[in-house]
Amino acid sequence: MKRQLGPSTAFFPIPAALIVSKDGDKVNVLTVSWIGIVSETPPMVGISLRRDRYSLELIRKTKEFTVNIPSANLYRETDYCGLVSGRNRDKLRDLNFTMLESRKISTPIIKECPYNMECVVKQEILLGEWVLILAEIVETHLDEDKINPSNRANIEISKVVNPLVYCAEVREYWSLGEKLGNGFSSGKEIIQRAGKK
Ligand SMILES: Cc1cc2nc3c(=O)[nH]c(=O)nc-3n(C[C@H](O)[C@H](O)[C@H](O)COP(=O)(O)O)c2cc1C
Repeated sequence: MKRQLGPSTAFFPIPAALIVSKDGDKVNVLTVSWIGIVSETPPMVGISLRRDRYSLELIRKTKEFTVNIPSANLYRETDYCGLVSGRNRDKLRDLNFTMLESRKISTPIIKECPYNMECVVKQEILLGEWVLILAEIVETHLDEDKINPSNRANIEISKVVNPLVYCAEVREYWSLGEKLGNGFSSGKEIIQRAGKK
């Protein structure tokens, strides 16, 4: 039996990422959980911001931002960036985060976050109170000590990066559990089984 929950945005777990924006001397950070990779070629990310976010103002001016993936131990700082607006506080200074220069854009990345993406805005889609921003990932950074021999940010690295995940329905932060299997191969068993029917 299933019970219907109505039109719901519950979808879990989801990431919790820190978005840095910069306009002149003003550098700001906000937390987003409405974020996801939306295309591989070109590499694109989508973030959804409410129309009144200060970050949206800055991103609209410069057409760029960085995505910074916090480790699970940064959950308090991540929450803080989602509770306070940059209109009233210098959040980056409050948190003592270290800003590092990006390679391809002028908005910096957060050193304390092990994985970072430099993004250039390509398109905006208005969704009622929200704005979906589609941006191209023009560079990515991973802490040197977390790079594995294959030079890829796969699940092994995710374990080391220990990314923070969020469950919006119950407003809880979690870390990742155990690896269950490999992508593009765990399902092959079912393909073989189905083929024998
Ligand atoms: C876990 C978490 C996830 C959030 N996700 C989003 C989101 O996806 N989009 C959004 O616009 N705001 C989101 N928020 C709220 C903003 O981070 C918050 O309103 C922030 O203070 C806005 O900062 P700004 O005004 O400096 O841009 C989230 C907050 C938390 C705590």
